[in-house]
Amino acid sequence: MIEVKTDQPLRAYNTFGLDARAERFCKVSSEAELAEVLRRADLYRHGLHVLGAGSNVLLAGDLSGLTLAVAIPGIEVVSESEGDCRIRVGAGVGWHDLVSWSVARGLSGLEALALIPGSAGAAPVQNVGAYGSEAADVLESVEGLSIPGGDAIRFSRAECRLGYRDSVFKRELAKKIIISRVTLRLKKHGPVPMTHRALSDELAAAGISSPTVKDVFEAVVRIRKRKLPDPAVLGNAGSFFKNPVISSDQARKLTGEEPKLPAYPEKDGRVKVPAGWLIERAGFLGARRGRCGVYEKNALVIVNLGGATAGEILALASEIQDRVRALFGVALEREVVVLP
Ligand code: EPU
Repeated sequence: MIEVKTDQPLRAYNTFGLDARAERFCKVSSEAELAEVLRRADLYRHGLHVLGAGSNVLLAGDLSGLTLAVAIPGIEVVSESEGDCRIRVGAGVGWHDLVSWSVARGLSGLEALALIPGSAGAAPVQNVGAYGSEAADVLESVEGLSIPGGDAIRFSRAECRLGYRDSVFKRELAKKIIISRVTLRLKKHGPVPMTHRALSDELAAAGISSPTVKDVFEAVVRIRKRKLPDPAVLGNAGSFFKNPVISSDQARKLTGEEPKLPAYPEKDGRVKVPAGWLIERAGFLGARRGRCGVYEKNALVIVNLGGATAGEILALASEIQDRVRALFGVALEREVVVLP
């Protein structure tokens, strides 16, 4: 039986720790409950919002209509072969719990994605990634229910159209599908190749030359603890902006002016540059504006210093975007999703 609450405070449902309220709120723990809600279009005629762990959203105001917290549990092994293990995971499973589960079994594919806040169901939406791995590397399929109606639909990996912090669920299927489960294909032998510099440096510093899955996991946990604030201590939603991808001409001009700017060539000839570097160079590292600021150890993260409003955070974000555009001619796009 589903229970619909009214005027629900959402502070505990967003890692920025912002005060917003949901006109109606409902937590669902199974596909059956989710389908029941989605069949009752009257419940969400004023809007429907989905919060997983609320770790990539900025609640800019109260949410009208219905807000759903998807808490579908469960990790099941669906098939195993000589080298692979396929697992099917409930959308409500915490991402880090899933990573820890896989590492404890010696399975590889998720170890570099340790400590990413969020839920398994949200992972495909923005194709979470870190330290040379991304959800796209292991994702096999996604199950979801349609809005409205609650009909079950399955999406193959190709149909998810995963890109850099992007997928079909952010685009054509936004507001049309709620993800209920994901199926991942993990490897039984050996960790993924070490392509990320920060990770290989961390392992080398620990004297590890042929790392196990657990070594990689532990190295990523150490790096993230150094660079990213724990949302339980300091409200934040991870990287606030995406790393901009610019033309090779613009990159050449920029690195001419800023020889130390790291630049990573993309397959299509364009170049990805780190937003954090540009923001730090623009002088924002550790900057404070009232009750929010830029994290002192990572310029890509905006933090709630205690009691910040969404307006204050958005004003700081705009100030950063304006300054980076004025100094470097680069437009920063938000990575965090602003609701409503
Ligand atoms: N940098 C600075 N100053 C800063 C921050 C970064 O100079 O304040 C420089 C670093 O020195 C480095 C470069 O920028 O040369 C890249 O930094 P880092 O390796 O820390 O990664 P990032 O590009 O800042 C991305 C993801 C993170 C992910 C890390 C590790 C995006 C938007 N962010 O950050 O994802 O953990 O790589 O792979 O792509 C998230 O999405 O919320 C997130 C935390």
